[in-house]
Amino acid sequence: MKISIIGTGYVGLVSAVGLAELGHQVWAVNRTPEKIAKLQQGELIFFEPGLDKLLRKNLKNKRLYFTTDFAAAVNNSDFVFICVGTPPKADGSADLSAVKVVAGQIAQAARKNLIVINKSTVPVGTGRLVEKILKSNGHKFEVVSCPEFLREGRAVYDFLNPDRIVVGATKQAVGRKVMSLFAKLKTHKLVTARETAELIKYAANAFLATKISFINEIANVCEKVGANVEQVAQGIGLDKRINPYFLKAGIGYGGSCFPKDVKALKQIAGSMGYDFKLLKAVIEVNNGQRQNFINKIKKELVSLAYKNIAVLGLAFKDNTDDIRESAAIDIVRALEKAGATIKTYDPEAMATAKRVLSRKTVFCDSAYAAAAKADALVIATEWPAFAGLNWAKVKQLMKGKIIFDGKNLLDQAKVEKLGFKYFSVGK
Ligand code: UGA
Repeated sequence: MKISIIGTGYVGLVSAVGLAELGHQVWAVNRTPEKIAKLQQGELIFFEPGLDKLLRKNLKNKRLYFTTDFAAAVNNSDFVFICVGTPPKADGSADLSAVKVVAGQIAQAARKNLIVINKSTVPVGTGRLVEKILKSNGHKFEVVSCPEFLREGRAVYDFLNPDRIVVGATKQAVGRKVMSLFAKLKTHKLVTARETAELIKYAANAFLATKISFINEIANVCEKVGANVEQVAQGIGLDKRINPYFLKAGIGYGGSCFPKDVKALKQIAGSMGYDFKLLKAVIEVNNGQRQNFINKIKKELVSLAYKNIAVLGLAFKDNTDDIRESAAIDIVRALEKAGATIKTYDPEAMATAKRVLSRKTVFCDSAYAAAAKADALVIATEWPAFAGLNWAKVKQLMKGKIIFDGKNLLDQAKVEKLGFKYFSVGK
């Protein structure tokens, strides 16, 4: 099949590469010539493990093309995927400007009938809005929702091994046609009404975020009663109805999706006169988790003035260079504000973090360099490599011997045996 993908961010680029890998002819469009030039050379424009290999393979196979020529791409295709950003506005609602611009461009450029597929995370009713914008063009358009469920850092795997594919359409036959693009993927396939598919995306992210806030609240109770949140998570996660995933307590969820989508769903409900009380609490708990952790550090170190603190991790989670809504960034800022000097290291997110952190922050080229002479060490991102550090060496390098593990990443018994004073979340 011939497909255009508008937007080459996480969702757009992974979808373009993934659909090419499934055997389709794909034109991926971005209006920035420098980005297109890089992608044409097989170079990624963001860090995502495994994506470069598949990108180069499909460029070579001539199944994947990158272009700035919107009209040519669209008129060469039967399916057009809208994969642009929907960042949050001040009131929490999703900013649909980019989606509207793309719909307007399709209306202007299309010289044929098309199936337009929304893969951006958009509020319920956006399909109808896009349909309205496309009406100004004389051709026939079907507007379909096909939400994406991939995780950053595991995007290639998630695209090619999804738990399910959801397609929402006003006509079942059109929904099935879009579903046929994924024929090679053996998984659960759900064709729904368009509004239902749009809501499934928000509901999925909001539910996962709720699980995280729930376990974080349990962690806070654990600290009060002397229980261990990891064992509680294991104990409840073995119940198949609960399952063990997204039950890791810590400094709360970050990233470009959960914080934005939970707020957007709360706002969507609110705009329809429904007060989504549970999501309010999810957001409140998540914000509180970062603050609780910062308070824990402040309490133990008494004063942060003139203290040297090593912060390991800046990305919002492991396997990514993305720092959007990263708890690590908030923690660095709060500690600096309280007078500490921060030396930090992240395997991938140093360049992105340098753009937002202060000039005072010291960026080191290894975790060991960050730890050298530190009074205390903070783990703020769950990079597995941090767990594998030589902690005896870290202890030798540090001045103090206190670890604050915001991701419950380390083996408590092991580091305590080495003589560290270890603080984590919910234990
Ligand atoms: C999330 C969803 O998991 C994807 O299914 C969805 O497609 C994506 O948002 C999106 O809407 O585009 P992502 O933001 O890449 O994916 O990252 P996750 O792996 O879900 O982690 C989100 C945050 O939750 C991270 O800060 C992570 O550290 C935190 N987390 C995750 C926890 O604190 N505890 C957990 O048990 C799991």
